[in-house]
Amino acid sequence: MAELTLRKADQPQKGKTWPKPAGATRLREFHIYRYDPDSTGNPRIDTYFVDLDNCGPMILDALLYIKNNTDPTLTLRRSCREGICGSCSMNINGLNTLACTKGMDDSSGPIKIYPLPHMPVVKDLVPDLSNFYAQHRAIEPWLKTTSPTPEKEWTQSIENRAKLDGLYECILCACCSTSCPSYWWNGEKYLGPAALLQAYRWLIDSRDETTQERLDNLEDPFKLYRCHTIMNCAKVCPKGLNPAKAIAQIKKMMVERKAA
Ligand code: SF4
Ligand code: SF4
Ligand code: FES
Repeated sequence: MAELTLRKADQPQKGKTWPKPAGATRLREFHIYRYDPDSTGNPRIDTYFVDLDNCGPMILDALLYIKNNTDPTLTLRRSCREGICGSCSMNINGLNTLACTKGMDDSSGPIKIYPLPHMPVVKDLVPDLSNFYAQHRAIEPWLKTTSPTPEKEWTQSIENRAKLDGLYECILCACCSTSCPSYWWNGEKYLGPAALLQAYRWLIDSRDETTQERLDNLEDPFKLYRCHTIMNCAKVCPKGLNPAKAIAQIKKMMVERKAA
């Protein structure tokens, strides 16, 4: 096997047009990004056809139809097919979203599918999310306390629990971070909307006792302050979350503690 070379998803060439399914009368055309790390060739766009009478309604159904019936080498991630695991995020007709919750009927003409933008590509529709996960780890997404551990559990009032709504639902799909221009250009140093939304989720958790330490960790010209409120993140989030708002709240906490 050739040494694995991670490539970004740019500049693909026209690839192969695969045969239409025999006997199908209702066809949908797909243009799909292909990149094989074992080949020396450039990435390419292959054309596939899906028999709509033998396929479910979602984009993920179509990708699995292609994999099972036309081209078993097509590579993608997926697990839950319910919009819960975040594995099937990809760029569909120019928008980052989840293939399992995106319907084929949402568009007309050929459906264009690419991996999440501006990330190294492992193979086909699978991006390398190592940096993204390392950034999530860096914000220490767990409860940190200094008080003695209670006998039963760390409790929280109903009002304080409600403050986590709109934050805890994040499925770490990376649709937001990979749609953020600031993250495209400074992805190594800017934490990006997904990690910052999670950072805010722990900053405002009433049970956490390390708020100042968490703010100290974000006080950096790049980690937090590269957000320029472009709002792409909130537009694409398949769970309807608003990372830009969470980032604005963190900036406000920074200002308030300086003024205190
Ligand atoms: S609002 Fe901030 S985090 Fe969201 S896309 Fe724009 S720059 Fe990126
Ligand atoms: S905030 Fe939304 S888009 Fe971003 S990682 Fe979480 S679920 Fe995905
Ligand atoms: S397969 Fe789990 S979110 Fe799509």
